[in-house]
This record gives sequence, C-alpha cells and structure tokens, in this order.
Amino acid sequence: MANSKTVIITGGGGFVGSQYFQHSNHQILAPGRNECDLNRPDSLKNYLNNHHCQTLINFAAFTDMDDAEQQRNDKNGSAWQINVEGVHYLTDICRDKIYLIHISTDAVFPGSKLDPGPYGEIHPTATESDTVSWYGWTKNQGEKLLLKNGKRCSIVRIAWPVGDKPHPKDYLQKLISRAKTNQLPPLFTNQYLTLSFIPEVAAVLDVLIERQLSGIFHASSKNSCTPYQVAQSLFKRLHLSQPISPIKFEDFVAKAQFPKRYHQFSGLKVASTTKKLNLHFSTWQQIITKLINS
Ligand SMILES: NC(=O)c1ccc[n+]([C@@H]2O[C@H](COP(=O)([O-])OP(=O)(O)OC[C@H]3O[C@@H](n4cnc5c(N)ncnc54)[C@H](OP(=O)(O)O)[C@@H]3O)[C@@H](O)[C@H]2O)c1
Repeated sequence: MANSKTVIITGGGGFVGSQYFQHSNHQILAPGRNECDLNRPDSLKNYLNNHHCQTLINFAAFTDMDDAEQQRNDKNGSAWQINVEGVHYLTDICRDKIYLIHISTDAVFPGSKLDPGPYGEIHPTATESDTVSWYGWTKNQGEKLLLKNGKRCSIVRIAWPVGDKPHPKDYLQKLISRAKTNQLPPLFTNQYLTLSFIPEVAAVLDVLIERQLSGIFHASSKNSCTPYQVAQSLFKRLHLSQPISPIKFEDFVAKAQFPKRYHQFSGLKVASTTKKLNLHFSTWQQIITKLINS
C-alpha cells in the first residue's frame, strides 16, 4: 500500500530502473507504461492521485540511440515526445507536491575534442542540437525544462551503467557474452568514458530521497577508460583468451551510418557529488573487481 514515504519510479521495467528496484532500501512502486504513461498527462495524474508518494524517480526514457538518430529534428518523434514532452508533463504534475529526481546522461554534453569530458556537475551542456546525438539533445532539452519549471527536483546523470545483476543491456555483460561466442566487435582505443556502477547510483538516489536536495548530481566511476582497456582488464581477470581487435574512433565513425550518435570524449566527474553527499565512487578498475566478486 502506498504512503507518503513511498517512492514511485517510472521506467522501472527498464535496465537501470529494474536494478535500482533491487538495490533500494525504500518502499518502491514501479508502475508500467500502461498504468503511468509519460505521454498521457491524464494517466500520470490519475496514477499520482491514487498512489501518494513523497518522491518520484524518472527512469523512463527513449534510449535507442540509432532509432533516435532517425528521428533527428522531429519533435513528433517518440524520442522528443518522451524525453522532452514527457519530462514537461511530469515536472508540471509533480511541481511542489512531489520531490522529482530525473535520471539523465553524459550524452547531454558534446563529448568532442573542442569541449571534452569528463564533465563536472555544472559544466555547460551542449547548446546546438547538431553537436550531440539526437538522443543526447532530447535528454539535454528535458534537463533544461526541468531546471526551468521544476520546483523541488534534482537531476542525476549517469554514463555507461553497469550492474551486479544479469541484464542483456549491460555493457560489461555484453562484452563477456560476445567474447564467449566469438562475436566481439573491434573496440575503440581512443573513446573515453566513465562507468556508472548501479549500486553506487542507487546510493546517490537513496541519499537524495532522504535529504530531498535540489541540483545536479553525478554517479560514475571517478576515472575514465576506453572500451578497449575495459575489455582487456575484464577478460584478463576472467581468464578469457579472446583476442580484442583495436579500432580508432575516427576510422569507425567515418563509415558509420549515424556518425553523430557517437561521442568520443564523454564521461562524468563526481567531485562535487562526492563532497555534497559524502559518498564514495569506485574507479573503473574497482568496479570490475566488484563485479567479478559479486
Ligand atoms: N542505458 C544506458 O546506457 C544509459 C546511459 C546513461 C543514462 N541513461 C539514462 O538512464 C535512464 C534509464 O535508462 P535505461 O537504460 O534503463 O532505459 P531502458 O532500458 O530503455 O528503459 C526505459 C524505460 O522507460 C519506459 N518508458 C518509455 N517510454 C515511456 C512512457 N511514455 N511512459 C512511461 N514509461 C516509458 C520503458 O517502458 P517500456 O518497457 O514499456 O517501453 C522502460 O521501462 C534513462 O533516463 C536514460 O536516459 C541510460
């Protein structure tokens, strides 16, 4: 039964939301899209009128980056409708009644040589849609709306989430299964990213739920890596002898169908969040160790 301490999560059936559900200490309600649809304000209102909560965490999003790229500049497309309009409705409905935590991404930044990551919490986000993926631009615009219209709200950005529970969308789990089936694609040696360890994301969310803080927070490894480095370290630790073919980011992107979908210098810094929330974030190497030991 819902009460004022209940936390409602949208997108709880997705990759990150479903893993958060398994980590949180809070009483969670996770309605599916059929009960609580970000694109149907009446369904959102009805659900929130019937299920009282103090906090709502929005994990719901349109996340397919290739599909999003095919919708570039289309504000009727589902990427814009969910990641921008959906956030708009949610922000309006929560207003000062419900503390809203919105999950976002490092893809709101350009990830370019001119303005490279890893990015701090208050680093300016991209200002032109053609400097980021369309997915990143819709998330960027969703953030802007929330910051402009939201009353009691915060943004938690994550990057390349990896969890300690099985999930087909998990990047490290995909690397392992592809290595085991000899289907490993060439990996970038010069794309820079940070990993978000989902139990550490959950710790950030749980502190925010307790303290109801406003602002922008990051949950990520405290250092950067390349996909090639990650696979090398992971396979060595797991005694997998699969060879890894290196590829340069620029060589791949020159032939890619949607070149703007890729960000070369992305990732998040966590110094300010570490200090404000008094939390610890692992290095990417420590995350691999934790996953192997889990
Ligand atoms: N995965 C990543 O690599 C990554 C990286 C950085 C940031 N993030 C952010 O993390 C959050 C969670 O991502 P994820 O990977 O868990 O996504 P996901 O697996 O694609 O899950 C998205 C969830 O949103 C729900 N949803 C979509 N449209 C909706 C709507 N109109 N109303 C209600 N629910 C709706 C989906 O429901 P259905 O199942 O019914 O479609 C699904 O449960 C997102 O904000 C994403 O931008 C993800």
